Amino acid sequence: MTPRVLQHGRLMASLEEALGARFDLHGLWREADPKAFLAARGHEFVGLATSAGKGADRALIEALPRLQVIANFGVGVDTIDLAAARERGVAVANTPDVLTDCVADLAFGLLLDVARRLSAADRFVRRGDWLNAQFPLATRVSGKNLGIVGLGRIGAAIARRAGGFAMPVRYHNRRPVENCPYDHEASLTSLASWADFLVVACAGGAATRHLVSREVIEALGPAGFLVNVSRGSVVDEPALVAALQAGRIAGAALDVFDDEPNVPPVLMRLDNVVLLPHIASATTETRQAMADCVLANLVSWFDRGRLLTPVP
Ligand code: 8YV
Repeated sequence: MTPRVLQHGRLMASLEEALGARFDLHGLWREADPKAFLAARGHEFVGLATSAGKGADRALIEALPRLQVIANFGVGVDTIDLAAARERGVAVANTPDVLTDCVADLAFGLLLDVARRLSAADRFVRRGDWLNAQFPLATRVSGKNLGIVGLGRIGAAIARRAGGFAMPVRYHNRRPVENCPYDHEASLTSLASWADFLVVACAGGAATRHLVSREVIEALGPAGFLVNVSRGSVVDEPALVAALQAGRIAGAALDVFDDEPNVPPVLMRLDNVVLLPHIASATTETRQAMADCVLANLVSWFDRGRLLTPVP
């Protein structure tokens, strides 16, 4: 029998098509009353395809009593209730590795943008301001100190890129990484004091909530820049907004926010802030590789009973 898979939220068209060709796929997003649908037919589903944005909370996992596997389109699994999945013996797969380079590229793009004020300078030209004035001087990147919060796959790829800009790198992790060429800072506040640029690349979720606190932001200081390609939840957003408004940090470049797609309106008015709509993995090549990974995990699970990229 073809495994019945529930799709939570829309996915890439090519992935929806491929999942539909391989499985008995049903989109929960089609249902006017998803709760009533789950109560009546939740028992039919053995697989769930979801994304970092939609995740799978405890209520959804419990509404699918025969669920075996969750395949997430995204590396971050902070919106999946892993404890609920574990209790029910549900396996979870994500899409690591395939997006590492694109996310690291974008982190560097954001860093260059906020320091050299690329987006602000573009706005300056478009407004016609160049006809009457010189664009103000910006901040040098090469040779500056780069602090990385979370030296996992993505953090390490950002660190490698820093080599091309002759930037000394230090990092903060819960535990130092073995055989690592970069210095570990046990305290995030000391890392922030040392860094000219603090780049957030750790996993989201309860364990890292507001890790970049008011104190860390103050330690980064009025010449320091914050870049976030992780999750909005890792940064104390009200504290960041207050620091930016008061000039207590030099600028911020953000791909992620606490309440996406809502961005604090005051940030829209600040010229030293770069705002992106969560696009770090959003290239045709990488998104297709992520789609292939979601499909391959589900196929592998139902054909051979194992995942290719399981979340531990
Ligand atoms: C997702 C992401 O692809 O991988 C992640 O964790 O945040 C992105 O790459 C995006 O949220 C689409 O679900």
